[in-house]
Amino acid sequence: MVPKDMAPAIGVFDSGFGGLTVLRALIERFPRARFAFLGDTARLPYGSKSRRTIARYAAQSAQFLVREQGAEFLVIACNTASALALDAIQDAVPVPVLGVIEPGAKASRAASQTGDVLVVATEATVHSHAYAAACTAQGLRVLEKACPLLVPLVEEGWTDHPVTAEVIEIYLNELRAEAESRGMNPDTLVLGCTHYPLLRPLFEGAVRPGAKVIDSAEAVAQAAARQLGSNVALAEPRAAAETKIRCFATDSVEKFERLGSRFLGRPVGHVELIDLGD
Ligand code: DGL
Repeated sequence: MVPKDMAPAIGVFDSGFGGLTVLRALIERFPRARFAFLGDTARLPYGSKSRRTIARYAAQSAQFLVREQGAEFLVIACNTASALALDAIQDAVPVPVLGVIEPGAKASRAASQTGDVLVVATEATVHSHAYAAACTAQGLRVLEKACPLLVPLVEEGWTDHPVTAEVIEIYLNELRAEAESRGMNPDTLVLGCTHYPLLRPLFEGAVRPGAKVIDSAEAVAQAAARQLGSNVALAEPRAAAETKIRCFATDSVEKFERLGSRFLGRPVGHVELIDLGD
């Protein structure tokens, strides 16, 4: 457990830089913490890979944050790694590990009136049915859809491009048609990939009026606050702009620096290149 008088070191991990949306919410919640963020950009996308490969990549990434950056608490800011590799990560490091699926499912339970929710995510996340399990445990009915074109569009920076809007429209139309054929009445859409919050305005424009769009970033920050407890250092005010953050990537640092600020809501600064092997 983190000593009461010290700001904890929190490691945050994603396959790319989408997880910066989660880091942003964590910084707001824990401005006095020290953060190390790792984007495994050399091996992105995780979403089209097997459980075994995702588990190996994610465990190596977690070990880097704990062993080399001294992280005392890990947030897996990647739905794919949370869905397929949470156990492997927990086995690989001796610190508490928080994934994004469970907090996202709880946030959708709080948001949905009809009890029917839709989830969009990567192929690996959908095939794992981790959201189906977590939402069903919350008493929700759920329909999941893989949207494999969206991560590359976000990584390309096409976050407000008409092509991206069209792709989202097509995916949601297919999903709604299937929900209808199953007699569902969904009123909530879960963004089950940490890249998708960057497309939130496009999703909000494409859902039915009144439908809620959930991203797990804020829910994860709340869950982290529950796990870290009432740490004195966290309670002391400090401007989020002063929070200490180190960012690491396994490739494409220039692109990370250029596009990452959109996800983080402020400049990411210098991104350090690291090598985690093949
Ligand atoms: N950001 C990852 C997630 O939340 C998806 C990116 C990838 O496919 O690696 O699932």
